[in-house]
Amino acid sequence: MFERLNTPEEIFSFKLGSALTMERDTLAMLVDLQDEARRPELKQLLAEHAEETRQQISMIEQCFALLDEEVDASPCPVVKAIAAEGKATLKKTDDSLVDAVILAGALETEHHEQAVYETLIIHARARGAVSVAGILETNLAVEQDAGAKVKAMAERIAASGVAVPTEGMSRGAKAGIVAGVAATVGAAAAAAVSTAGGHAAETSVADAATESLPEDGSSGAHAAGAETVVSPGPGTTGAGAEEFNDDALQERIAESEHRARP
Ligand SMILES: [Fe+2]
Repeated sequence: MFERLNTPEEIFSFKLGSALTMERDTLAMLVDLQDEARRPELKQLLAEHAEETRQQISMIEQCFALLDEEVDASPCPVVKAIAAEGKATLKKTDDSLVDAVILAGALETEHHEQAVYETLIIHARARGAVSVAGILETNLAVEQDAGAKVKAMAERIAASGVAVPTEGMSRGAKAGIVAGVAATVGAAAAAAVSTAGGHAAETSVADAATESLPEDGSSGAHAAGAETVVSPGPGTTGAGAEEFNDDALQERIAESEHRARP
């Protein structure tokens, strides 16, 4: 461990050691989060990235060897802080919503890791350490790929209402999720109408709302409606029960639009 950093090379080695700690902490976090995740696809994504992270740790150790230096881990409090924040948030989060919290922490971690590798690559190239730069570029590419997968899953889950249905989930919680989804999507639809600026677009939304109404004229915004959110809709299989159905979502958008129009 360096007491003081007096040369660019020492700074590089110190930061390489920080990257090593970062990856070790990330691996520990990924292993922990596999137990916490609810969706099988998220568990799988975390497991795959844990395996990739093991490789990345070994690649960083190779960088030290290429520089003819001892492997020397430096402090890196960032991932520990993200893990601590995630753990504290998970503690107070309903079981049905933990995946969203996990994905948030994972995406924050991936962005941090990418920044760390980008800086290391700049300095490895500057000092002519071509092989080291190549290894670090490989690690960066792994982080970019993992980050893209995490972001895509976060977007998919957010768009479908975030929650995973649970047997013990209260009706009130389900209704709250429905209201949240409807409000979010309703706002997006309103923004789209506003952007289009045309009567035709507005009419089509209103028509959709009218078509979704029950014949008795009731709004349909009751607890039974909430139940439909967590049930697989027509055309879905049992395996899709964890995902909100698109058709059901469209119905809720229409209901939301109708409620907004007296
Ligand atoms: Fe990573």
